[in-house]
Amino acid sequence: MRASASASTMPGVVRLALCQIPVVPSKSENLNTARSYISRASAAGATIAVLPECFNCPYDTSVFAAYAEPIPEPLGEIEAKASESLAMLRSAAIEEGIVVIGGSIPETDRATGKIYNTSVTFAPSGALVAKHRKVHLFDVDCSGTGGIVFKESDSLSAGNQVTVFDAADLKIGVAICYDIRFPDMSAAMTRAGADLLVFPGAFNMTTGPAHWELLARARAVDSQSFVAVCSPARVEGAKGYTPWGHSTVVNPWGEIVETADAGEALVIADVDTARLAQVRAAIPTRVQRRPEVYAS
Ligand SMILES: *[C@@H]1O[C@H](CO)[C@@H](O)[C@H](O)[C@H]1NC(C)=O
Ligand SMILES: *[C@@H]1O[C@H](CO)[C@@H](O)[C@H](O)[C@H]1NC(C)=O
Repeated sequence: MRASASASTMPGVVRLALCQIPVVPSKSENLNTARSYISRASAAGATIAVLPECFNCPYDTSVFAAYAEPIPEPLGEIEAKASESLAMLRSAAIEEGIVVIGGSIPETDRATGKIYNTSVTFAPSGALVAKHRKVHLFDVDCSGTGGIVFKESDSLSAGNQVTVFDAADLKIGVAICYDIRFPDMSAAMTRAGADLLVFPGAFNMTTGPAHWELLARARAVDSQSFVAVCSPARVEGAKGYTPWGHSTVVNPWGEIVETADAGEALVIADVDTARLAQVRAAIPTRVQRRPEVYAS
């Protein structure tokens, strides 16, 4: 972790904290851990704290319904009893004066009974500034090659929009995990003005070493944006899903600004917006693209 001077005193520099927390079966323990990491992020001078995918529940499709919460819309009063994760995220944002990108949680849609994989972001005012429902559900069947069968669409429904919003003097795009594999989606967020793409994710022990860093760097280079990927920590000896960890921030040149190993960690990185203009001017792909040739 870097020195704790506030980045907010440096113009154009936004300090980001990725909270690579251990996720255990107890929801209240997960909420307490997340809350304490948000305090640490604030103490380190960060203006944005990011939590991992599925930060309040084990990454196991069979338990999503049990951990799911409604996300009240329109964005008004939050009923703390029914939506305790949201209540925690909101009060943490207010108490710490920080933008909280709340990883993802399973969301129950009361009207339809469907469950979504959803990321919410709260501003320091307590306003719910963004709500992203995971767009690409992860359905794989590798049983033929001795691999896993994982079918999110059995238990989750897909969202259908790109999420870009203003917070902490940045335009931020949020998408979830598997969404990072779809370059068109990152391109759409970038065209909507995003300077920082945030992906709470939980890659496993096969896809993590193969693709986690590669995809983060690839999206950073092809979108000419900062990219942050935030994973749960690996809990040695725990049963169930083993996340890769390695939460990372990449700059628009594809360089790793900060990263972590697999254990619990607070990754602090400064997003220097001057880098965006430099890279975009040096290699002007943003204005030289010719969608009429290859758009389909
Ligand atoms: C969200 O989607 C990802 C798929 O990549 C999945 O791993 C995760 O378990 C889902 N989480 C929730 C909270 O539904
Ligand atoms: C991780 O997921 C991939 C599919 O995306 C699968 O092939 C592989 O077997 C999984 N690895 C582990 C360790 O579960």
